[in-house]
Amino acid sequence: MTPTTPADASATRDSAFIRAARGESVPHTPVWFMRQAGRSLPEYLKVREGIGMLESCMDPDLVTEITLQPVRRYGVDAAIFFSDIVLPLKAVGVDLDIKPGIGPVVASPVRTLADVEAIPDLVPEHVPYITQAVKQLVAELGPTPLIGFAGAPFTVASYLVEGGPSKEHAKTKAMMHSAPEVWDALMRKIAQHSAAYLRVQVAAGASAVQLFDSWAGALTPRDYVEHVMPHSSRVLSEAGELGVPRIHFGVGTTNLLTLMGEAGADVVGVDWRTPLADGIARVGDRAVQGNLDPTLVFAPTEVMLDRAAEVIDAGRAAKGHIFNLGHGVIPSTDPDQLKKLTDFVHGYPLD
Ligand code: CP3
Repeated sequence: MTPTTPADASATRDSAFIRAARGESVPHTPVWFMRQAGRSLPEYLKVREGIGMLESCMDPDLVTEITLQPVRRYGVDAAIFFSDIVLPLKAVGVDLDIKPGIGPVVASPVRTLADVEAIPDLVPEHVPYITQAVKQLVAELGPTPLIGFAGAPFTVASYLVEGGPSKEHAKTKAMMHSAPEVWDALMRKIAQHSAAYLRVQVAAGASAVQLFDSWAGALTPRDYVEHVMPHSSRVLSEAGELGVPRIHFGVGTTNLLTLMGEAGADVVGVDWRTPLADGIARVGDRAVQGNLDPTLVFAPTEVMLDRAAEVIDAGRAAKGHIFNLGHGVIPSTDPDQLKKLTDFVHGYPLD
């Protein structure tokens, strides 16, 4: 594939978010929230009325509006592109839907090599609406960075093989162990999609990328190293060629944090179960992102802010620290709590 250079990275190069991701000094601790756009915002529920999730992701004006909503409301240090990890599959023609309250559901789960081979590679022409939405967003955002994202091969494979959300990922892991050639082909296919999807977003102006391996915590380190890491590494290495910082995140990944950094991340996302100091020790000379328990927004404000202070203090030991929740915003979250949290992180003294 032809190398592409970011549209104009200079506008966001000196933002607190990009500086922290690169391990440079910051004017304040940068903060954004995974799933900051979405059901916790009344303005989101209003614009989404009667429009399906995937349909919304393919409408550049709606994507632009929804992505900007939390930036306007909270004044966070970065926007996350409104899309989904299964959008590339939909774009190449896989029959799937995102069902409200359930998540991605795939009509014909992948079982055989022929099933994998029937899935086309992703080319930019499959996703013109993504290019348009990113360009519009970057123009609106000015100095605020836009984070592009994709799903990592294991997490996307889990939806394709299970046919929907899963707790145990049993069919996925069974394929990994009993049909290695099908598994390898599937992981290569998704890695191609994810790398191409990130490339499209960066080419249109995204300033950083996040690779979500949300369900990698289901894996033993050995299986991660042998069957998953090489494919995530390929995606991160292709993203690295684009010159933007790369964030790599998964849930319940305490035992994988070192490896997830080594897969090629500049910033490792730490979920809330791991004390941030432990996470920092595991990732070594890399920046970290996280990791307030997302349910702390339901505690009294003083309690939430007290725990946030602990996270910020712990983050000082890292090469760089981007404040975030330890996973996505829970839909019933009160947006006023996230506003207070953002202001608190911004006002917290640097030393
Ligand atoms: O963070 C953001 O605000 C940006 C948007 C975003 C969405 N999905 C929008 C969305 C991002 C970054 C994602 C990534 C994603 N999608 C992941 C990785 C992140 C994570 O949370 O670990 C995963 C595992 C998916 C798959 C998926 N899509 C799930 C589990 C769900 C939620 C199911 C539910 O309804 O509880 C979706 C649907 C989805 N993706 C919604 C949103 C806003 C809800 C759709 C709606 O509003 O009806």
